[in-house]
Amino acid sequence: MDDTSKAYAKPLSWSDSDPYEYSPGLDTPSAPEPAAKTHESTGDKALDRWFLEQRGNKRVPKRLDVANELLVTPGGPLKMTGNITLIDEDGSVTHSNNLSLCRCGASKNKPICDDKHLDIEFFDGGAIGQMSDWMPVSRPQTITVTCVKDGPLKFRGYLRIYNKRGQECITMNGALCRCGKSSKKPFCENKGQCCSS
Ligand code: FES
Repeated sequence: MDDTSKAYAKPLSWSDSDPYEYSPGLDTPSAPEPAAKTHESTGDKALDRWFLEQRGNKRVPKRLDVANELLVTPGGPLKMTGNITLIDEDGSVTHSNNLSLCRCGASKNKPICDDKHLDIEFFDGGAIGQMSDWMPVSRPQTITVTCVKDGPLKFRGYLRIYNKRGQECITMNGALCRCGKSSKKPFCENKGQCCSS
């Protein structure tokens, strides 16, 4: 991380006594870029294009005028909101504004949560240990989530990841654990190597 990114890296407010410790390690962009200076940005035009493209789809998403966000729920799924393109393992593409993504590995309807986390008593407090490498922005953007076979959920695009305990990480491009085994949840720790073990 260079000096520019350090300027807006946000330290985590995290209790020393918390059991869900985490060491940074996820691949992140090598050179963070500054936020767009004007509202009429390239990103806005790309989003307009994205939204227009979805009109031929049966499940037409709305153009949400907020940034993409991911809520890490304790013992439950990853709740993503935004302008989302989801690419499943078989290559099928759907568009959505709201997804509840399994992160325990037990869903019979992957990548969507089907509440099987309750049956297996999935236990994870939803801690977020990674530092932000991007500045907060409120303008809408698109995000693409790709389900890797026997691997993580890879995402490309701006994403604010947060939990109800006041932690957050703002990043671009990364991989989210969906097997429930990563020690760096909600991120994949090992490029999917832990998923099949
Ligand atoms: S997180 Fe709900 S079924 Fe896996």
